[in-house]
Amino acid sequence: MLANKPKISSNWFQNTFDSLYPILYAHRTIEAAEAETLFSIQQIRLQRDDRVLDLCCGGGRHIAHLAKESEHVVGLDYSPQLLAIARESLGTGIPLIRGDMRYLPFHEHFDVIMNYFTSFGYFQDQHENQQVVHNMMDALKPDGRFFIDYMNKEWAINNIENETHRTAEGFEVHERRWIESNGSRINKATIINRGGDEIKHIGESVQLYTEDEFSQMLEKGGAVIDAMFGDYSEAGVSPDHSRMIVVGRKA
Ligand SMILES: C[S@@+](CC[C@H](N)C(=O)[O-])C[C@H]1O[C@@H](n2cnc3c(N)ncnc32)[C@H](O)[C@@H]1O
Repeated sequence: MLANKPKISSNWFQNTFDSLYPILYAHRTIEAAEAETLFSIQQIRLQRDDRVLDLCCGGGRHIAHLAKESEHVVGLDYSPQLLAIARESLGTGIPLIRGDMRYLPFHEHFDVIMNYFTSFGYFQDQHENQQVVHNMMDALKPDGRFFIDYMNKEWAINNIENETHRTAEGFEVHERRWIESNGSRINKATIINRGGDEIKHIGESVQLYTEDEFSQMLEKGGAVIDAMFGDYSEAGVSPDHSRMIVVGRKA
């Protein structure tokens, strides 16, 4: 039974991204990541000898494409289960690191950092989200570049589907989504059942930023923004576009 607005733990991201996650987000495949990766490569003007970090690489679906264009790709993620999936699909040649984006172990090491598909804004303490920007800039070499694909606040608020039921690979998936009353976060609670038995409760909670708020946070963290897009076809950020894609560099 899914409560109306169950409390989402502040550490939700530590339990949510396990081996069920690729089943819940089955449309987010290696194939679907190809066009996104090519767009990011083009925007960032990736060079073959650039050192690239896929920050929050998950199952490595973008790395599968990045590795064709750069010889030095590294993935970092918190989830051991998703890193295992990445290792299986990518083979042994690509370094995959288990780490927390709040504590990145790099200093002026990368030419490029990619951060795909809403892998940001997870922390309820805004200082921690700000710290992630600071860590990214610290991990970049001088003049290093970055690409972040985040969600668009206005679109998310206008298009939220409050409740859905579906099945995925034999699991019954019941999802509730809501915006916090001050508009600051979008939350999702999921219950997964199989054959009438409850398998897992999942929480997700992500900070919502306007274009100005996102820009200010990035600039405060030492970034310069070169372009912002509302989707992967270079549309501008607008209420009609679901994404807020930022291309920038270290100040
Ligand atoms: C929405 S998924 C996106 C994964 C991947 N970028 C993709 O597009 O398939 C978010 C990813 O962030 C990772 N993650 C969550 N919290 C993290 C943290 N504190 N530090 C590093 N990675 C984290 C999750 O394990 C998950 O793989």
